Amino acid sequence: MNGIIIYRSTYGATEQYARWLADETGFPAVRQREVTQEQLRSAECVIVGCPIHAGRPSSAGWIRRHWPLLADKRVILFTTSGAPPALVQGFTASLPEHIRSRIEYYPLGGRMLFGQLKPAHRLLMRIGQKVEKNPEAKATMLLDIDNVDRAGIEPILAGIRVHEQSLDGRIDTNS
Ligand SMILES: Cc1cc2nc3c(=O)[nH]c(=O)nc-3n(C[C@H](O)[C@H](O)[C@H](O)COP(=O)(O)O)c2cc1C
Repeated sequence: MNGIIIYRSTYGATEQYARWLADETGFPAVRQREVTQEQLRSAECVIVGCPIHAGRPSSAGWIRRHWPLLADKRVILFTTSGAPPALVQGFTASLPEHIRSRIEYYPLGGRMLFGQLKPAHRLLMRIGQKVEKNPEAKATMLLDIDNVDRAGIEPILAGIRVHEQSLDGRIDTNS
């Protein structure tokens, strides 16, 4: 199976996972704004990686717009976030059911070093913290966190390998 990893990353956490995945799969890692229609068309497996911004995967709009090209492919989405992955809920709200049901979703640990954010992003985080309702998330939103961990890609790789094995199985059975 051939594939491509398409990512958005402002501060490098998501890009780091994209590069690890590229190392392991051999798929090229391409910034979302640089990907061409031809690259998308020819990929059988599309892995999209993006940060959570304002509670939502920041590539949700891109996925919706490109769904006509993605619909017949294997689509995997991973996100990175300041909040622990288990608390991230924006996947459901950001994509309609007919798209969600076709995407394998992996929320991964992200990195946010508050002092290194651009001033506009610091302001957004402060506003976000004020309106955050989950007390656990609210308490930690402005603290430095670094949960980027190469082990996070293992379930994604395992999923790809299982899929490839089942494809091989199908070829064996039919040949
Ligand atoms: C403007 C902005 C908004 C963010 N909003 C959220 C959020 O709503 N929830 C969350 O868990 N993390 C949020 N984060 C943290 C990022 O998701 C996290 O730092 C991510 O790992 C950054 O990825 P990157 O280094 O690839 O840009 C936000 C960060 C920024 C800069």
